[in-house]
Amino acid sequence: MDKVILAFSGGLDTSVCIKLLEEKYNMEVVTACVDVGQAQEEIERPASVANGIGNYKHYTIDAKEEFAQDFIFRAIKANALYEGYPLSTALARPLIAMKIVEMAKKEGAQAIAHGCTGKGNDQFRFEAIIRSLSDCKVIAPIRELNLTRSEEIDYAQSCGIPLPSDKIYSIDENLWGRAIEGDILEDPMIEPPEKAFNWTKSSADAPDESQILEIEFALGVPISIDGKKMGPLEIIKKCNQIAGMHGVGRVDVIEDRIIGLKSREIYETPGAFLILTAHKSLEQMTLTRSELKFAETISETYSELVYNGMWHDPLREDLDQIIDHMQRRVSGIVRVKLHKSGMRIIGRKSPYSLYKQDVVSFEDKAMDQREMIGMVKHYALQAGFYNKMCKKD
Ligand code: ARG
Repeated sequence: MDKVILAFSGGLDTSVCIKLLEEKYNMEVVTACVDVGQAQEEIERPASVANGIGNYKHYTIDAKEEFAQDFIFRAIKANALYEGYPLSTALARPLIAMKIVEMAKKEGAQAIAHGCTGKGNDQFRFEAIIRSLSDCKVIAPIRELNLTRSEEIDYAQSCGIPLPSDKIYSIDENLWGRAIEGDILEDPMIEPPEKAFNWTKSSADAPDESQILEIEFALGVPISIDGKKMGPLEIIKKCNQIAGMHGVGRVDVIEDRIIGLKSREIYETPGAFLILTAHKSLEQMTLTRSELKFAETISETYSELVYNGMWHDPLREDLDQIIDHMQRRVSGIVRVKLHKSGMRIIGRKSPYSLYKQDVVSFEDKAMDQREMIGMVKHYALQAGFYNKMCKKD
């Protein structure tokens, strides 16, 4: 009997997959859950759900540090955002796939299975990595059998798979954010109910007092908050907690999926918004105008690669090289004020600042203003010719 490693979350899709892989594909199933910073119960649940369905070997793989260091920190340096979404799910998928491939090799499995449907992005992201790192066969039972959600529920009930009763929404959570989809949220005119949110306070419930934070960056990544040094994992968690408490980081967008479907997505990404906003403001101070402009282009391409599941494309590595080089001077301190779902940069400083207060100051005399006379006179030459020629009246 062939062995298959199933990327397992313990939700409806993957629970149904366990039984389908046995009954319809006649395979020996090993389940694995990769910890990328989802809630503790989501790490523990898969093992107990798998156990409830049958006697399966189950692995839990802790990839949090790697996720923070090798994925999120790169995304910060790249200012990665896709249509207003900080790419939390998209960034984690390649790492999850890499870990599952490692597991498949260790177990000598012939196949890897995932619970993605045929409508989403994750099928691309998982399979792109799995196929480029292994020769395992890829099985996606829900997609291959073209199952709807209610068919899945019927099947689950027929084989005694316990249904997660309290879960109305489809939620994907990791260190960099929480995505909430499905149910009434599929109607783009319906406001997400307060109970859909878990990481962020509403502005009404956020503290009345504002809070000022100082985030220190070195080489483009955050290293301390209010003077306290922290590792990648700790600092991301802390930013999620503080910004979430102040109600920062809720996103409600219509997003363009890889296959062209538009979907309504709700995200809570408080830490990502805090860090990305602060990072960008430090870049404004330390990068030249032309570097900033080019960084926008890099960021857009980088974000598309991540969204489209092309993490392993050499272009992503090439861009990381340029980005790392550009981030050498993105070090310094950014002061941010958080209050009732609002976030404002109120201060910044850097040893590499290109902002020169003494020169820009109205009080400065060292830069002789008269030297500008000729430059200003011949500025906008072409527009001047055009207007004189064509706008006579
Ligand atoms: N639309 C996002 C993406 O493709 C997030 C998907 C989250 N999945 C979920 N089941 N809520 O990256």
